[in-house]
Amino acid sequence: MAPRRWLLLLFLAAGVLQSLAQPDSRGFISIDCGLAEEASYVDDTTTLAYVSDAGFTDAGTNYNISAEYLGFSRRGHNLRSFPDGVRNCYTLRSLVSGLKYLIRASFLYGNYDGLNRPPASFDLHIGVNFWKTVNMSTWGADQGNTATVEAIIIMPNDLLQVCLVNTGSGTPFISSLDLRPLKRTFYPQATAEQGLVMLARLNAAPVNKTGTIRYPDDPHDRLWYPWFDATIWAEISTTERVYGIGDDLFEVPWKVMQTAIVTRNASENIWFGWESLDAEPRDDDPSRPGYVAILHFAELQLLNASNGELRQFYINLNDELAYPTGFTPEHLISNAIYDTKPSRHSGYNFSINATTNSTLPPILNAVEVYYVIPTTNLGTDSQDASAAMVIKAKYGVRKNWMGDPCFPRTMAWDGLNCSYAAANPPRITSINLSSSGLKSDISSSFAHLKALQYLDLSNNNLTGSIPDALSQLSSLTVIHGNNPNLCTDGNSCQLAAKTKSKLAIYVAVPILVIVVIVSVSLLVLFFLRRRNQQQGSMKNRTTVKPQNEEAMSTSYGGDDDSLQLVENRRFTYEELERITNGFDRVLGQGGFGYVYDGFLEDGTQVAVKLRSHSSNQGVKEFLAEVRWTKSFNSMCLQPLAEMRDFDVKFYVLVLCRLRF
Ligand SMILES: *[C@@H]1O[C@H](CO)[C@@H](O)[C@H](O)[C@H]1NC(C)=O
Ligand SMILES: *[C@@H]1O[C@H](CO)[C@@H](O)[C@H](O)[C@H]1NC(C)=O
Ligand SMILES: *[C@@H]1O[C@H](CO)[C@@H](O)[C@H](O)[C@H]1NC(C)=O
Ligand SMILES: *[C@@H]1O[C@H](CO)[C@@H](O)[C@H](O)[C@H]1NC(C)=O
Ligand SMILES: *[C@@H]1O[C@H](CO)[C@@H](O)[C@H](O)[C@H]1NC(C)=O
Ligand SMILES: *[C@@H]1O[C@H](CO)[C@@H](O)[C@H](O)[C@H]1NC(C)=O
Ligand SMILES: *[C@@H]1O[C@H](CO)[C@@H](O)[C@H](O)[C@H]1NC(C)=O
Ligand SMILES: *[C@@H]1O[C@H](CO)[C@@H](O)[C@H](O)[C@H]1NC(C)=O
Ligand SMILES: *[C@@H]1O[C@H](CO)[C@@H](O)[C@H](O)[C@H]1NC(C)=O
Ligand SMILES: *[C@@H]1O[C@H](CO)[C@@H](O)[C@H](O)[C@H]1NC(C)=O
Ligand SMILES: *[C@@H]1O[C@H](CO)[C@@H](O)[C@H](O)[C@H]1NC(C)=O
Repeated sequence: MAPRRWLLLLFLAAGVLQSLAQPDSRGFISIDCGLAEEASYVDDTTTLAYVSDAGFTDAGTNYNISAEYLGFSRRGHNLRSFPDGVRNCYTLRSLVSGLKYLIRASFLYGNYDGLNRPPASFDLHIGVNFWKTVNMSTWGADQGNTATVEAIIIMPNDLLQVCLVNTGSGTPFISSLDLRPLKRTFYPQATAEQGLVMLARLNAAPVNKTGTIRYPDDPHDRLWYPWFDATIWAEISTTERVYGIGDDLFEVPWKVMQTAIVTRNASENIWFGWESLDAEPRDDDPSRPGYVAILHFAELQLLNASNGELRQFYINLNDELAYPTGFTPEHLISNAIYDTKPSRHSGYNFSINATTNSTLPPILNAVEVYYVIPTTNLGTDSQDASAAMVIKAKYGVRKNWMGDPCFPRTMAWDGLNCSYAAANPPRITSINLSSSGLKSDISSSFAHLKALQYLDLSNNNLTGSIPDALSQLSSLTVIHGNNPNLCTDGNSCQLAAKTKSKLAIYVAVPILVIVVIVSVSLLVLFFLRRRNQQQGSMKNRTTVKPQNEEAMSTSYGGDDDSLQLVENRRFTYEELERITNGFDRVLGQGGFGYVYDGFLEDGTQVAVKLRSHSSNQGVKEFLAEVRWTKSFNSMCLQPLAEMRDFDVKFYVLVLCRLRF
């Protein structure tokens, strides 16, 4: 019994981390890296609660920066540095697969190591896709070397790993990591195949010339950097509120739209530009990153039309019209002209010039520029990956077990072999965990590795028996034994290179509690009807009205009234087995165990969430997660009283159905 108590303690500790490691009510995750474990605070300027990163990574070392740089924001005061291993990752959980998110990482070197030598560069990956090379020597050298990088992506999974990769040019470190859900319609240029990396997000002629606008002025917590040059442009502003057009795809905060630059003379141009990141200028080179620009306009002056007053301008890119007609912004209405598809040039020069009929100079309130990154790399099969992560956590495997188990090949986990079939996610085919100091029983998660052919667990201190489920792996051929305490009950189930047919039958400790949340799969949210939208898109960059716009009228929260509680029902374990086809398909995994795909008798697709006996959290936490899942997804409107009436002998099912 002693080992079990020890496990229980461990699981309670894990439970605490898990609860901190969840998004807040807005779906925000705000991590101050290097903050002492369990510490958290409310940030003065944003009023957002930042938590320690201890629940998100199990590698690296905490440092405080040097005192001389402490003037900057609190998030920069401490950091986590990763001297060991090529790839080190943060794992963010409880995300909504298919939803759009903004991810932001920031870095303040601040001479934390006392060497006064910031790392030349290191790479960032979002999941299995390259994000950006962080070049610490180029940015903010006068402020202790700082950098902020940001991306907008569609979440491929309910779990995301953000990885720092040591490329041999210095020790990676990170100061803070933010995740913000965006509305599905936002930034239509971000798709499942491509993400957007921010080059610039500029607030023209801000009232506060040094202040960056973000949450709460921007409910989506984007950073709007100040942009002005009094020697070139004039500034205009209003104190009146600026509203977005209907179906606003960008929702620029009105504080940003309230100010703008104009030229001093109606015959002059507003212009801005940048060079392509690649050295060799060659148009339409697919290896060169494509860029998308989004220009935000609102008229801030009350014009007298009967007096012939008109502000109208052309938008040109590299001296060619980028928007086919002259454009006149509406009074106090925020509108955007944007690329719907990335364009590739060696250099980009946007210029905005007045039409001949215009009596007023051109105006620009804000501008965003992104380049696209492909997000098409396939990570390990998600069921394999989550099983591997459970195994890693259960045995505390160190090695290089960070990030995706199989991808990229060069960083695949030691002791794992994978199959890489083109166009299919890699599968884990063999695991060699021999002589790895494994303790406790054999994880049933091995049985979730459906492509496993070879499993070597020899020379460990494993106890208990071989899970029966392992015998159901059709392709598993070899298991090595030689664990002195395996099956101490006298049965000869200690295995030495036995084949699956000789596996001992072992009935696991009965599952105590199963609470099932049935929610119509989140995928349903993807099929909501699309809407018209009114913002203009630039010439030759597909149609003016994108055809594939999804229309969630609110953000991740979804429409409460599109969901309706149908019934509460209890199920037996046998029924659940039938519903899930023997717990065949894992949709995902939370702190409480797996979530399985299933179908009710009437064909309703359901997600079945199990709290297994090996769950590392208690009933109370599970109910909290159930409640939380519900509020986050607005999936179920099921009364909480039902949950309080909790009976360990029954299985509770909450059934919700989407009403269209
Ligand atoms: C960083 O500073 C805080 C207090 O300012 C202290 O509590 C913490 O232990 C320090 N962390 C490290 C890693 O030195
Ligand atoms: C970092 O930036 C500096 C200055 O622009 C450049 O000289 C250096 O090559 C860059 N380092 C890497 C690794 O890209
Ligand atoms: C302008 O922004 C800076 C930086 O956020 C802040 O310290 C300062 O108080 C702001 N000034 C005003 C007048 O709001
Ligand atoms: C505006 O520009 C035109 C042409 O450059 C110039 O002739 C005119 O004097 C300028 N007006 C002002 C007010 O600067
Ligand atoms: C607009 O211009 C017309 C013609 O010059 C003038 O009569 C009218 O008073 C102006 N209206 C305003 C609100 O300035
Ligand atoms: C303004 O842009 C249009 C469209 O590119 C161009 O035809 C025109 O010559 C430009 N006018 C000025 C004054 O730059
Ligand atoms: C960009 O275009 C404008 C207007 O055509 C021009 O005045 C400016 O010099 C150009 N800038 C660059 C860097 O080419
Ligand atoms: C300018 O005004 C004239 C007369 O109202 C009109 O015919 C012409 O189309 C206008 N040009 C533009 C570019 O709007
Ligand atoms: C498994 O790992 C052990 C120890 O690292 C090694 O001796 C053995 O050769 C490995 N087996 C295979 C098949 O690679
Ligand atoms: C993985 O593949 C390598 C190369 O084919 C092989 O040497 C090694 O034994 C394999 N390891 C396991 C655990 O199967
Ligand atoms: C198993 O545990 C015992 C005592 O805890 C230890 O002496 C032994 O080295 C361990 N064996 C392995 C293979 O880790």
